[in-house]
Order: sequence, then structure tokens, then C-alpha cells
Amino acid sequence: MGENKTENNAQTTRPVRCEIFHDNFENAKVYNIPRAQMIIADIPFALGDKMYASNPMWYKDGDNKNGESDLAHKAAFDRDYSFNINNFFAFATRLLRKEPGKGEKGAPCVLIFCSFEQMHEVITEAEKHGFKHYTPLIFVKQSSPQVLKANMKVLGACEYGLILYRNKLPKFNNTDETGKHRMIKNWFEFRRDSKDIPRLHPTQKPVNLLEQLITIFTDPGDVVIDPCCGSGSTLYAARELGRSSFGFEVNKEFYGKAKREMLGI
Ligand SMILES: C[S@@+](CC[C@H](N)C(=O)[O-])C[C@H]1O[C@@H](n2cnc3c(N)ncnc32)[C@H](O)[C@@H]1O
Repeated sequence: MGENKTENNAQTTRPVRCEIFHDNFENAKVYNIPRAQMIIADIPFALGDKMYASNPMWYKDGDNKNGESDLAHKAAFDRDYSFNINNFFAFATRLLRKEPGKGEKGAPCVLIFCSFEQMHEVITEAEKHGFKHYTPLIFVKQSSPQVLKANMKVLGACEYGLILYRNKLPKFNNTDETGKHRMIKNWFEFRRDSKDIPRLHPTQKPVNLLEQLITIFTDPGDVVIDPCCGSGSTLYAARELGRSSFGFEVNKEFYGKAKREMLGI
């Protein structure tokens, strides 16, 4: 089920674990997973059969003269509509590390990728579960997937996210390779990965972006959990950086591909 490497960093000699479970994250209790420094969740956007609505993929070869393709009127995956945000925050409450003690730093955080329209609901639900603070994030794409109505409206070319935390500011690594402090802004480039990273999921997040985010909010030896891990991109990024990672994916096909093709475990 998993892969063990040893983390060389002086801070810890714990083995780096990388494990993916074919299950609902709601069943996490039975897996004995350690608490996380960071939970990353790319929650279903609930777009349903509008997933490809402004995207040329709606039509065969991207041309409406050719008629509709197999993707027209299709959702990205079968769980797109039934995600329960309350269950997610119950999971996060159980599996995120507790707040550090008085005078200590290094609080944990939750990062949620979501649509702009979902932000209000996520912030409201997070607050009910004690995640009282948030920082909005924007991920800027080089192009828009919505080109079908390019002459009629402003095109969406961003994705959105939220960093959520309880009381203390999350762990924050903002030094560059030379040890100098650098500014971390609230927007990041959403760049496609190179061909070395397999493309396995319709809403896959770039490993290069996940690596930046994991580096900022965790240290080597920390634990990262992705309860809706799709292609396994988060687990891959975490493992590359010497963080232990645990993920859930309920869809059998995505789970199999993530395990074999992304993680090779
Ligand atoms: C938006 S996608 C995640 C894509 C992922 N970030 C990536 O980079 O590949 C959400 C995934 O969560 C899965 N999912 C939805 N509800 C779930 C649940 N309760 N437990 C586990 N997986 C779930 C879906 O099958 C889907 O593959």
C-alpha cells in the first residue's frame, strides 16, 4: 500500500511514508494515519454536466460543426455533486495537528482549492469547525479553457483557494535557497507540469504548484494529507520534498492510476 524512504533532514529520522487508500475519506478512522501539518483538498466544484460547457472539448475536435463529443453533458467524475463539506471539516478537525503550545510556532493549516462561488460556503463552514481565519489565494493560468464564448464575455483564467487556520498563523517558510527572506504573494502561476508527470485526472493540479505550497507551509518530515487525492499529485509532490503523505480516492479508476502511474507503489 505504501512506500517508505528515510528522511535525511537533521530534524528527523522518521521514515517518509506515502500511502493511498481506495476509500471515502469519511472512513479515515480505520487507517491509523498520523495527524497532518497540512491538509490539502481540491474539493469537487459541483459543476455537474456543465464541466465542459465553455470548453471546446464539448464538440468533436473542438469544432461545433462536428457535433457534440463524448464529453458533452458529462461531469468530470461521478462524485462531483455529492461532496459533503461538513464531513470534510470534521475530518480536518480530527486529522490536523493540534495548535502549538504557548510561545510555540508552527501551527498547521488546511489548503482548499475551490471555485470562486464555493468560497463563501467554505469560509462559513470552516468557521463552524474552529477554522476562524483564512487567506484567499489565486492561481493564474496562462490561458482560459472557456474559449467558446470568447467574443461575448470575460473569460475565466484563474483558479481559487483558501488557506484556513484556527488561531495561530501557520508555519511559514519564506526563505529562498540562499537563506534570504522572500515575499510570498497571494497569487501563484498555474503552470502545466512537464511530460514527466502523467496526466491522469480532468481536474489535476500541477505538481510544481503543489510543491511550492507544501514547501511554504511544511518542513521535511511533516505529514501532508489529501482526502480527495484524484491523480495522487499532492502525494507525489509531498514525497519529492521528503514529507510523509496520505491520500484517499473513492473512484477505483483514479485510485488505480494514481497508485501505479503517479506514485509507482
Ligand atoms: C477535484 S478532484 C481532485 C483532483 C486532484 N487534486 C488532482 O490533482 O488530481 C476530487 C476527487 O475527489 C474524489 N472524491 C470525492 N468525494 C470523495 C470522498 N468522500 N472520499 C474520497 N474521495 C472523494 C473524486 O472521485 C475526485 O477524484
